[in-house]
Amino acid sequence: MSNESLANLLKEERRFAPPADLAANANVTAAAYEQAAADRLGFWAEQAERLSWETAPTQTLDWSNAPFAKWFADGKLNVAYNCVDRHVENGLGDRVAIHFEGEPGDTRAITYAELQREVSKTANALTELGVRSGDRVAVYMPMIPEAVIAMLACARLGAPHSVVFGGFSADALATRINDADARVVITADGGYRRGKPSALKPAVDEALTRPGTENVRSVLVVRRTGQEDVAWHEGRDVWWHEIVERQSDRHTPEAFEAEHPLFILYTSGTTGKPKGILHTTGGYLTQVSYTHHAVFDLKPETDVFWCTADVGWVTGHSYITYGPLSNGATQVLYEGTPDTPHQGRWWEIVQKYGVTILYTAPTAIRACMKWGDDIPAKFDLSSLRVLGSVGEPINPEAWMWYRKHIGADATPIVDTWWQTETGAMMLSPLPGVTATKPGSAQVALPGIAATVVDDEAREVPDGAGGYLVLTEPWPSMLRTIWGDDQRYLDTYWSRFEGKYFAGDGAKKDDDGDIWLLGRVDDVMLVSGHNISTTEVESALVSHPKVAEAAVVGAADPQTTQAICAFVILRGGATAEDEGLVEELRAHVAQQLGPIAKPRRILPVAELPKTRSGKIMRRLLRDVAENRDLGDVTTLTDSSVMDLIQAKLPSAP
Ligand code: WT7
Repeated sequence: MSNESLANLLKEERRFAPPADLAANANVTAAAYEQAAADRLGFWAEQAERLSWETAPTQTLDWSNAPFAKWFADGKLNVAYNCVDRHVENGLGDRVAIHFEGEPGDTRAITYAELQREVSKTANALTELGVRSGDRVAVYMPMIPEAVIAMLACARLGAPHSVVFGGFSADALATRINDADARVVITADGGYRRGKPSALKPAVDEALTRPGTENVRSVLVVRRTGQEDVAWHEGRDVWWHEIVERQSDRHTPEAFEAEHPLFILYTSGTTGKPKGILHTTGGYLTQVSYTHHAVFDLKPETDVFWCTADVGWVTGHSYITYGPLSNGATQVLYEGTPDTPHQGRWWEIVQKYGVTILYTAPTAIRACMKWGDDIPAKFDLSSLRVLGSVGEPINPEAWMWYRKHIGADATPIVDTWWQTETGAMMLSPLPGVTATKPGSAQVALPGIAATVVDDEAREVPDGAGGYLVLTEPWPSMLRTIWGDDQRYLDTYWSRFEGKYFAGDGAKKDDDGDIWLLGRVDDVMLVSGHNISTTEVESALVSHPKVAEAAVVGAADPQTTQAICAFVILRGGATAEDEGLVEELRAHVAQQLGPIAKPRRILPVAELPKTRSGKIMRRLLRDVAENRDLGDVTTLTDSSVMDLIQAKLPSAP
C-alpha cells in the first residue's frame, strides 16, 4: 500500500492526559514498557507468576518450530482452579463473581464460593456423560451464568470447548460441531432477546440431523425460558437441572500441560470455511490475566467490571470468562439487548451495580449516539472510571461522545486492538500512562511487538501507512487453525517472512502512534490514492447530522473505484432535506481533502451488520455496483438489504 496521501488525511490534535489520581495509583506504569523492552521473555515469565501453577514453568518460549509456538511448556496448571478455587482458598469466597441481570429483569448474584460449587457439579456431570480430557464440547448458549460455568467446567476437565454464538443458525452450528468433532453439546431451551423468549434447542436438534455430527452422544440442556415445548431425544438429551443438581459439589481439578488445548473458536471471516482458532492453556491465561489487570487498571476489591460482549465471541472468552475471573474480579453479566425494554437499559445497569469499568464496541456506542444524549443523562454514571472499546476502529466523534456523555468528560478511554487469533489485547493505551488520542489504539502493550510495514515488509516511517504486523510471538497467540496447520501458515505467516500478518491496514502518525484503518480488503483505490473506508466514515460521522456511516469503493471505469457512502441520519434529519447530501460531500472534502469526497451518498435506515456488529461492506459493494446480493445468512437482519435496495432509485 503506497498511501502517502493517508498521512495527511486525518489530523487529530486532541489529547487527553490520564487523570492524576488514576496515574498515581495505576497498576501499571511506564516502567513496564522499559522492563519488557529490556527483557521481553523475562517480562512474560514474571507475568506468568500471576497464575497458580501446579508445576511452575522453567521455560518461557520455545520458538524452535516457528511459527508453532510453545509457551511455558514444562509448566502445569488448571485454568478453572485459577479462575475459581484459588480465590476461595484465599478467603474471597464471599466476593460476588457474577452479578447476572436477565433481560426480563431477573437477577442472581453468584459468589466465588458458589461458582466453585457450580463448576464442580458441572464438571462431575460432564464426567458422568463420558467427557474426558481432550474431548471437544460445543457450547451454544444464551448469555446466562451457565454459559460461563459450562466453559469453566470444560476447562477444569481439559476438554476444549467450542463456543458457538447463540445467534448463529443450525447450519453454522453443524459446520462447527463437525469440524471440531464435538462429542457433547451444551445448550439451553432458549434465552431472552428483545423482550421475548428466543428458542435455541430446535437449532441444535436440526444441526444434529446433518452429516458429520454423528459423534455427538449427549445434549445437556439448561432450562432458561421454560416456555417452549422442547422436543426431546431420549437417550441423548439431558436436562441440566436433572443431572447437574444431583452431583457432588466437590471436584478435584487435574493440572494440565501449559500447551494443552483450552478452546477452539471459529472466526467467520469473509471467505472460505470458518477457521477454528486454537488457543491453549498457560500462555493464554497469562496474557488475558495481565492485560485485564493492566489495561483496565483493575482493582478487584473495589471495581465492578462489565464487558457487554457475548461469550460467543473472543471478547467474551477473554474478558468475561477468563480474564476477569482469573483476576478475582466482580463483574456484571447481562443477557439481553441494550434497548430492551428501553434505550437506557445499559445505563440503568451501570447505575444499579455501580459499574466502574465498561468494555464495549464502537457499533454500540454509535447506536447510543443515535438514540440521543438525553438517555444516558438520566442515569448516574459517576461510578465509571475506565471505558474500553474493541471490535473495529472507533470514529473520533464516537470516541468523543463516549468520553463526554458516558465518561463525564474525564474518564480515560482504552481503544484495544486485538483479534480472535491474538487471544488477548495487543495494542492499547494504558489508562494511567498514555495521553490518549480519539480514534487511535496507539501503542503495543508491554511485551508485545507490533509495527506497520509496506508491501516489501519494510517498516514504514512515522507519518506513513501500510499493514499492521506483529514481529515477535506472544503468549496468547493462536497455536494453529484446528486440523489445518498449512492454512495457519498461509493465512498469517506467508505474506511477510517471519512476521504475523493481521490483515489490517494501519498508519503511524508523526508521534509513531498506530491508527487502525480497517481490514485491508476495505481500503479503496481512487485515482491512484489509497483511501481508507474508516477515515471517510469517521469524517461523515463527525458531521452533526450523521449517526453512522458505511463506505465502500464501487468499481469505476475512470477512477478505478468511486467512493460510495451509506449514512444513517441523526435526530430529525431526513433524506429529503434540501442540499443535505451536497453538504455531507463538501464536509468530507473539507475534512479529508477533495480526493476523498464521496461520489454518492445514500441515506438509509439501517446498515447490514454481522452478528458481531461488523458492517458487511461486501453487500454494500454489491448494491453500489448494481449486482445481485451475495450470501446474506450471517446478517443480523437480512431485511435490511431490501430496505437499502429500495432506496436506490432516488440516489443522486
Ligand atoms: C478484527 C478482529 C478483538 C475482539 C473482537 C473482534 C478489528 C478489533 C479493533 C480496534 C480497530 C479493531 C480488526 C481486527 N478490530 N479491535 N480497537 N481498532 N480495529 O475480534 O472478530 O477476531 O476481529 O477486528 O480489523 O483484525 P475478531
